[in-house]
Amino acid sequence: MLKGLSLIEPEDITIEDMENLFLLAEKIEKDEKYLRDSCWGKLMATLFFEPSTRTRLSFEAAMLRLGGNCLGFADPLSSSASKGESLADTIRMAASYADIIVMRNPKEGAALLASRYSSVPVINAGDGGHHHPTQTLTDLLTIKRLSGRINNLTVGFCGDLKFGRTVHSLAKALARYKNINMIFISPDELILPEYIKNNLKKQNVQFSERRNFDEAIPELDVLYMTRVQRERFFNEEDYIRLKDTYVLNMERIKTGKDSLIVLHPLPRVNEISVDVDADPRAAYFKQAKYGMYVRMALLSSILGVN
Ligand code: NCD
Repeated sequence: MLKGLSLIEPEDITIEDMENLFLLAEKIEKDEKYLRDSCWGKLMATLFFEPSTRTRLSFEAAMLRLGGNCLGFADPLSSSASKGESLADTIRMAASYADIIVMRNPKEGAALLASRYSSVPVINAGDGGHHHPTQTLTDLLTIKRLSGRINNLTVGFCGDLKFGRTVHSLAKALARYKNINMIFISPDELILPEYIKNNLKKQNVQFSERRNFDEAIPELDVLYMTRVQRERFFNEEDYIRLKDTYVLNMERIKTGKDSLIVLHPLPRVNEISVDVDADPRAAYFKQAKYGMYVRMALLSSILGVN
């Protein structure tokens, strides 16, 4: 049961609850009237201390489609954080106005801290280079809808695996499914953090780390591309050196399986060339739409209205 839950990282939700959310999201996708107005009278606060397009807009679209309302800020400079207010105080305040809080913050652990001070559920919309659990729900729903399964898959993650919070959350969540093989493709400097690898080892998940993108592509059922997270680098030179290490272009995608699914949490910078968008295997724009449906399912479940 998700009523009243704060969602900070993927493991806060059981596989059964995730599956129920996917079923609900599919129902909403098929019948857009389903659950319409179920959140009438409810308020969602979106507190975004870091830039966002899809995550914030899809949460707001989800809440508005459910008949609820939204308030909040998309720019920390317009909040009292810029006057030196602590996160704890901002959260206590928001919790007294809203029924649910969605927060993105550049500091790892900020969402967990917020949930400790909040009297209403908190959803982590990204905490630094740590986690982004609702992107994971989006990713898994997309995989399920497009391949018909989440088990028995070889999933390649490519790009910035060090700072990419969507990668961390998706790897953790996929680890709980059966017969998943993960291939992590990144430059040496941007490998997956040790704590995620240890987690996979503990659960006996099959995985490998590679440098060679071209060799990995033909093996994959799902390719999860990510941008190099410029805002988390300590110096610009490193970013410039690493940013175009891996680019998915037409020549490369041709070597993939016909059934390959190419995902990207977006925004894209250079890591997928735009001509790939026309390939039927490019699923990242569909993925963004599934994000709204799964957030509708999540909000209505946490608010206990479905
Ligand atoms: C991602 C994020 O914010 O972590 N974007 C998103 O939520 N769709 C990925 C990114 O910014 O690279």
